[in-house]
Amino acid sequence: MTISAAPEAIPVILDVDTGVDDALAILFALAHPGINVIGISCVAGNASLERVVENTLRILDVADAPYIPVAAGARRPLLEPARSAAHVHGESGLGTLRLPPTDRQAETISSIELMHKLILASPHPVTLVGLAPQTNLALLLRQYPDVVNNIERIVFMGGSTTVGNATAVAEFNVWHDPEAAAIVLDSGVPTFMYGLDVFNQVSIPERVAAALVQSDSNVSQVVGRLLGNRIALGSGRNAEYMGLIGDAGALCALVDPGALTIEMLPLRVQLAGYGRGQTLVDKRIHPGEDIVHGLATEWEAAEVALDVDVDRYVRLFLNTLGLGSALQQ
Ligand code: BDR
Ligand code: CA
Repeated sequence: MTISAAPEAIPVILDVDTGVDDALAILFALAHPGINVIGISCVAGNASLERVVENTLRILDVADAPYIPVAAGARRPLLEPARSAAHVHGESGLGTLRLPPTDRQAETISSIELMHKLILASPHPVTLVGLAPQTNLALLLRQYPDVVNNIERIVFMGGSTTVGNATAVAEFNVWHDPEAAAIVLDSGVPTFMYGLDVFNQVSIPERVAAALVQSDSNVSQVVGRLLGNRIALGSGRNAEYMGLIGDAGALCALVDPGALTIEMLPLRVQLAGYGRGQTLVDKRIHPGEDIVHGLATEWEAAEVALDVDVDRYVRLFLNTLGLGSALQQ
């Protein structure tokens, strides 16, 4: 895989819980010339913090990436214990994929310190891309509020304007640490939500994933196996997970927002009751009684991705990784 960020590439810090689809996202980000990954921050989510760090370092080997600093952050959410998603990502976090050990090492500083350092040192405002529970991002914003002056925006995979996955109404990343997501939305930094509305749509056909596994290239085989994990889950109640590129879609949104239907909408996180972790999105086009009668409280506004041109993102994902020919198989 060739790594060549263009000089005008967007400086990006990824915050990940690698994670089958975080792995796909990292591979995509490293391969796209419009994205310059300046650091990777790890957090407990899909798997334990230790597994997330190890998976991330091993995926950098798959990409044959140059040195990119990787650091460990929070091992649990702000208030609650960590609750992994092993039923989706397997105990290792990478499903059935087994990668060789790596010589790469995580930084000795925490990912909060690493992000602070990278953001202050960057000559251009940095885009934070959150693909995981937002514990690290919240801790960064609380501990080092000065970073907001050099953050372009926060693009996050999380939330939904319709269905949930962790609960009937809450998406996993926001559900895992709702207070952290609320802090991020409330930080004053522009935010962009790539939620389940679009995440659940961008899927690679099974025959294409199978063709990738058959290829001679290591990257192709790894991508095919990662997608295959999703496909293997795609029976019965898990059918929505078939072949999804998942978190990688949030990186596609960075470089090709034109494939999305995006609206600026009032957004907040529900913190109590059964709806805990749900993202509440106000899509009303007329003022309701709460506004008319002066009962409404202020909501933050965020850009929200509501729909996606699926074929365009499938092609963008595969072509960026040099795997577009698999679509012809
Ligand atoms: C999100 O949670 C994890 O399963 C995925 O990695 C993604 O970030 C989807 O709810
Ligand atoms: Ca993730």
